[in-house]
Amino acid sequence: MQTKIKKIGVLTSGGDAPGMNAAIRAVVRGCAYHGLECAGIYRGFQGLIENDIEDLNARSVRNIISRGGTFLKTARSNEFRTKEGREKAHTNLINAGIDALVVIGGDGTFTGGLLLDKEFNFPVIGIPATIDNDISGTDYTIGYDTALNTVVEAIDKIRDTASSHNRLFLVEVMGRDAGAIALNAGIGAGAEEILIPEEDHGIERLLESLQRSRESGKTSSIIVVSEGVKSGKNIFELAEVIEKNLSDYDIRVSVLGHIQRGGSPSCSDRVLASKLGVGAVDAILAGERTIMVGISHQQVVSVPLDVAIKGGDKFDRNLRRVADITSI
Ligand code: F6P
Repeated sequence: MQTKIKKIGVLTSGGDAPGMNAAIRAVVRGCAYHGLECAGIYRGFQGLIENDIEDLNARSVRNIISRGGTFLKTARSNEFRTKEGREKAHTNLINAGIDALVVIGGDGTFTGGLLLDKEFNFPVIGIPATIDNDISGTDYTIGYDTALNTVVEAIDKIRDTASSHNRLFLVEVMGRDAGAIALNAGIGAGAEEILIPEEDHGIERLLESLQRSRESGKTSSIIVVSEGVKSGKNIFELAEVIEKNLSDYDIRVSVLGHIQRGGSPSCSDRVLASKLGVGAVDAILAGERTIMVGISHQQVVSVPLDVAIKGGDKFDRNLRRVADITSI
């Protein structure tokens, strides 16, 4: 029989994402609404191992909905990868009187949560938050919309200087294994070329396309490059190859880096985070476990955690066609 839930723990783990604070707030306030206690665990699974836990109430999360990052902080814990580390984490959960744990993050976070659930029969619910939007079973992850807007704004600015100087810019965006940011922000910012980890059409095709662009009268161009692109060359090496083969191009490289992870969350991310935070508490009270709460057609849905971490089904092939047609 399921233990009666009296106290829920919440943590953020892995890469931060704008909207994590809004999700924590919704979990804490969801608990308050249902008369449950809530504990915040600092620095993800590492903080859990080190017993860095604090009780939170509805007022503890005031004025954080608009803030990027995560006030609970985050970490990638190597110690949690060991059985010993997980045993410590479990002991601390029990000693803090926590009956169920909400983990906010991406696939690494969910993998950690799954282990706690499997090894110690401890109820874990995931909330997807990563700028990469690479979690299966949810249309969107928290932070993705904000990151897209940050990238589009940055590329718009780069476009101004690129066109003033008749230059070709290679812009690197985040996404180690997923091209969602590159493809969507690339279309949104009108990029001429978009290189993503999910496909590798080879450098020859890129050179031919750039040549065609030149001949068609384009004076400046933007190539958006996902950091995880599988060409075997990093963005600087790619720029060198283009320079060598198409010497009439004046090329610059811009790596957007971690600005993509920061900033005030968009309204869309705040609403998504609020829905999923409330949904996570509802799911726990409904006796659900080993699931992620995701969003599908505006509705909160439950997805098994092991399905959520598979990721691979997010690449929208039709978007590639849209990118190719609109960049002609
Ligand atoms: O998973 C989110 C993400 O932002 C990826 O897109 C990126 O590859 C990675 O985190 C970078 O992580 P960090 O620099 O924090 O280790």
